[in-house]
Amino acid sequence: EQIEKGGYDHFMLKEIFEQPNAIKDTYRGRMLVKEGIIKMAGVDDNIEKFLNANRVIIVACGTSWHAGLVAEYIFEDLARIPVEVEYASEFRYRNPVITNKDVVIAISQSGETADTLAAIKLAKANGAFVFGVCNVVGSSIARETHAGAYTHAGPEIGVASTKAFTTQITLLTLIALKLAKVKGEISNTNYRYHLQELELIPEKVQKALESDEHIKAVASIYKDARNCLYLGRGYNFPVALEGALKLKEISYIHAEGYPAAEMKHGPIALIDENMPIVVIATKKGHYEKVVSNIEEIKARQGKIIGIVTEGDTNVKKLADHVIEVPETLESLSPLLTTIPLQLLSYHIAVMLGKNVDQPRNLAKSVTVE
Ligand code: AGP
Repeated sequence: EQIEKGGYDHFMLKEIFEQPNAIKDTYRGRMLVKEGIIKMAGVDDNIEKFLNANRVIIVACGTSWHAGLVAEYIFEDLARIPVEVEYASEFRYRNPVITNKDVVIAISQSGETADTLAAIKLAKANGAFVFGVCNVVGSSIARETHAGAYTHAGPEIGVASTKAFTTQITLLTLIALKLAKVKGEISNTNYRYHLQELELIPEKVQKALESDEHIKAVASIYKDARNCLYLGRGYNFPVALEGALKLKEISYIHAEGYPAAEMKHGPIALIDENMPIVVIATKKGHYEKVVSNIEEIKARQGKIIGIVTEGDTNVKKLADHVIEVPETLESLSPLLTTIPLQLLSYHIAVMLGKNVDQPRNLAKSVTVE
């Protein structure tokens, strides 16, 4: 097992550090930057299904559901295709309206999640075209779907999903860009710019990983917190949800993710000097609005950990700590902002002596309801 961990203390840490390569493996051979081409057999062979779809319904659970939420932003923003993101467990039991004009995308690292599999069967029975985004080759979901694409992230052993998440987002971004291009919804310049920026993401993830020691120091300050809030807006709202999930599942600290603007509709009541709040406040998007959320937290003595764009000075003045990530397009920023949140949870859990790779009560794939 030590050999399999490749010199890392835990599989989770190894998998966090594998992300630059994993992301590259996801787009390798599919994204030809110079030529401006995205090719993916599962999409290319079924392009009419995607183009004629009334909407896309994404079904998934847990971290994969969070990747689906990021995809909702990018599909709607770039490709102008309406998207609904559903918990597979709810979708399968609430008598949903599904037609043969729907495209269902099922996202699953393991390809074995029982609820996602059942949602796929239901969608198929109602005539929808079902596309799978899986990591495990030959898995049940890969076999049950009409078509699909693998993330090629390599084996993910840690129960807490890390590289599966960023590779799912990468793959879904490729699909959204492809559809945006074919539909003529994106300008050639913007399309090319996205491809170039996506190609740079692995080295930017590498840069984000270099903050590991700093993140460890921040973790040591907050490891005894009882609760933690994660806030983000737009593309980074799902990242806030994912950050909170990572912390709770491996450290057993109660954490909640919220859209930053929702704070004033309830969670603000929780804020006092004992509440650490991780705020994703990268430039672009809703930066000014998030900065004003940070001011509101500060006024209530909350402890602020800001995830910021390299060189940011505004948030630095207000936050107790900042963790920098390189600059990129807003639509690609989840691939970078996720990294410090994974490391923060990891270090807190290790400092608390928890079983990082196999947290209590959890299984890597949930093959029962
Ligand atoms: C995430 O860290 C969890 N392990 C969990 O939420 C997981 O993402 C979920 O069970 C879905 O698994 P899947 O991607 O294999 O379908």
